[in-house]
Amino acid sequence: MKIRLNINPEAQLANLKNSTWLPSKLPESIKTVKTLRNDKAKEKKTSKAMDNNVREINNEAIEEILKELNSLVGLQEVKTLIHELRSFVEVRNMRIEQGLTNEAMALHMIFKGNPGTGKTTVSRIVGRLFKELGVLPKGHVIEVERADLVGEYIGHTAIRAREQVKKALGGVLFIDEAYSLARGGDKDFGKECVDCLVKSVEDFRDNLIVILSGYKDEMNIFLKTNPGIRSRFPIQLEFPDYATKELLEIADSMVKEREYYLSGEGKLALEKHLNEQERNGHPHRGNARLVRNIIEKSIRRHAVRLLSTNNEKKFSRQELMVLEAQDITEGCKQCYDEKK
Ligand SMILES: Nc1ncnc2c1ncn2[C@@H]1O[C@H](COP(=O)(O)OP(=O)(O)OP(=O)(O)O)[C@@H](O)[C@H]1O
Ligand SMILES: [Mg+2]
Repeated sequence: MKIRLNINPEAQLANLKNSTWLPSKLPESIKTVKTLRNDKAKEKKTSKAMDNNVREINNEAIEEILKELNSLVGLQEVKTLIHELRSFVEVRNMRIEQGLTNEAMALHMIFKGNPGTGKTTVSRIVGRLFKELGVLPKGHVIEVERADLVGEYIGHTAIRAREQVKKALGGVLFIDEAYSLARGGDKDFGKECVDCLVKSVEDFRDNLIVILSGYKDEMNIFLKTNPGIRSRFPIQLEFPDYATKELLEIADSMVKEREYYLSGEGKLALEKHLNEQERNGHPHRGNARLVRNIIEKSIRRHAVRLLSTNNEKKFSRQELMVLEAQDITEGCKQCYDEKK
């Protein structure tokens, strides 16, 4: 199916040019502005390159991406909503082909959840999916945090934020710990950054998806105090902590991907460790990244164990693959020691 992309690069460049984020009077010392102007010329070229207007929808690629989404452990609500968005965009494209009217599409999102719950992973899937659906020309993800957006003196924030938005055009701007933009109250430059973002979601609505991400409670407060943001980010996804059973499944898929496997005892050792964390109310207990760290460290402990137990260095295929309880216990201990 072919669809017409609703992107007008000339208008977008004009937007960049007229952007009210650039204060009219900048100190002489801020030479960066000149660089930005030069960049605009470069951007013009890129915009032209992506403005081939008619894009082919690659159903095979879409199915492949959805398969990847479905292979993630848990995250049922996230999966359901992304499938829903896929259907919505596809039907919308068909309606455009038939000349039917469509509401402006607002696909900016809020991701709420603790560290290691899959937010970055899902944002990359979202970028690729919307590219294949013809919503975004590039689908890449630019991941930033407060320090990348908020400046240190007057006029600096506008430049920084604008630079990041420019990098993300055609794809996704993923702002981690977005609630920290509200830190410091009205006098803080974070507020200026929030205003910039609100403006950019309007200006580049056909060419940019912004995802604001962070801890659930902090994000809820942030949204409450920034109604402008709340109304422009209609899609909210929650990433709950993983249960021990899910973390074990994630560990299994991680070792499989690396062509290792957990012995029965190894699995029990990991389960015991995760249960202990749950019982102790460890703040990162539902964190898949922690599991990845444990697996990576256990793999190194496995290598040390093998070499220390056999001087001839001859191992069977199975020995080279199996992670035993000892490897896991030592891997967990290393992760725990790092946290202290
Ligand atoms: N549901 C899942 N299934 C399989 N692997 C997962 C899942 N969720 C996360 N992971 C893995 O856990 C690791 C951390 O995930 P990710 O970076 O997406 O988390 P995050 O929410 O962005 O964390 P942070 O807030 O700290 O940036 C990655 O290696 C990812 O592949
Ligand atoms: Mg992340």
